[in-house]
Amino acid sequence: MKVAPSLLSCNFLELKKEIQQLEAAGIDYIHFDVMDGQFVPNISFAFPILNQIRAITQLTIDTHLMVKDPERFIVEFAEAGSDIITVHVESTPHIHRAIQLIQNAGKKAGITLNPGTPIESLIPLLNDIDLVLVMTVNPGFGGQQFIESCLEKIKFLAAYRTKHQLHYEIEVDGGVNELTAKLCKEAGADVLVAGSYFFKHEDYALPTATLRGE
Ligand code: DX5
Ligand code: ZN
Repeated sequence: MKVAPSLLSCNFLELKKEIQQLEAAGIDYIHFDVMDGQFVPNISFAFPILNQIRAITQLTIDTHLMVKDPERFIVEFAEAGSDIITVHVESTPHIHRAIQLIQNAGKKAGITLNPGTPIESLIPLLNDIDLVLVMTVNPGFGGQQFIESCLEKIKFLAAYRTKHQLHYEIEVDGGVNELTAKLCKEAGADVLVAGSYFFKHEDYALPTATLRGE
């Protein structure tokens, strides 16, 4: 199991130290949540912070765009240092264009969907992408409660991948803690995002090991 802490819950006054501690803990991806106040009712951070993080770490940066019409910004997010760029199927009428822009920029393309969006909406895309992010909360805020019915989507994606011999990673985001992590693992997840649960610890090696299932 890979572990992807969401920086939304980190201490921004100590950002460099936070990144160094994440590296020391052996995490897999830095999950970078971008919110525009349009697609979701919150605003977070973007290019200046991403550029500065890129300059100090080799860790994989996993950018989650909660942004209306994300095609407008994909080249900039690629140039600012994202390794994976994930877009919401609900955020644009031109989702294939968004995926192509990500791949043309030489980055891994992820797609994601809100808890209320049926999994069938992803089927036309599953041949073309590198990662599927299953949202287990309504995006916009850290610290919300895990929506258990979303586990069915993880199971579907794992079975579909086997049946069609595909290779996308299945990542889960929202309300992940030591209990819900187990449910995600059983359902077939490969990567767990965690914000509030992860950063409430002093020593990041602990939540990293717990989420990995060690
Ligand atoms: C929610 C974000 C998440 C969030 C997760 O909109 O996409 O990545 O930071 O936070 P927790 O783990 O606290 O639910
Ligand atoms: Zn996220």
